[in-house]
Amino acid sequence: MSMPVRILFVCLGNICRSPLAEGVFKDRLHAAGLSNAMDVDSAGTGSWHVGEAPDTRMQATSRARGVEIGHQKARQITCADLERFDHIFVMDKNNLSDVLSLDPDGLHHHKIRLFREFDPEPGDYQVPDPYYGGEDGFERVFDIADRTASMILRRLLEENPALADQAPGDDQAPGDDQASRDTD
Ligand code: 4NP
Repeated sequence: MSMPVRILFVCLGNICRSPLAEGVFKDRLHAAGLSNAMDVDSAGTGSWHVGEAPDTRMQATSRARGVEIGHQKARQITCADLERFDHIFVMDKNNLSDVLSLDPDGLHHHKIRLFREFDPEPGDYQVPDPYYGGEDGFERVFDIADRTASMILRRLLEENPALADQAPGDDQAPGDDQASRDTD
């Protein structure tokens, strides 16, 4: 079996957008029977919420739409993450400049991209920060993550067809219960 592909999602606080992206992407991997083919994590550029669970509003929206993220814990991105991960998807342009600035020599810049580059409806290429807004902001972020996570998985499988060979075939049936997703 080949080495897992390592994927990191990054936002500001690591309590709204990037934990959701992590959860939705893992959900897609699980549905494809590919949970073991990739290492998936998320982090924030800021340290204010380190150790906290995702924002309860983001958890509630995500749970209502079938993705449990309540077990996650916020952490701050480090320079070591730039070495460790193969692909780093950031939620907005501030995140992009903050993450690029962790790599002044540009050794890892090719790994760092806006998440919404892969959104079929990319808008301004940024995932709006829902933290200070109303409930509809969380729904909107879920819609974006829902579309974009699927496209990223499709793209990674196109780039690396050997990954699909790691799917056991009938690993996942539609309607699979949520509890098994939490063990990812
Ligand atoms: P996130 O949202 O970057 O999507 O996790 C935010 C969470 C907290 C703050 C800002 C954005 N904050 O200022 O504490």
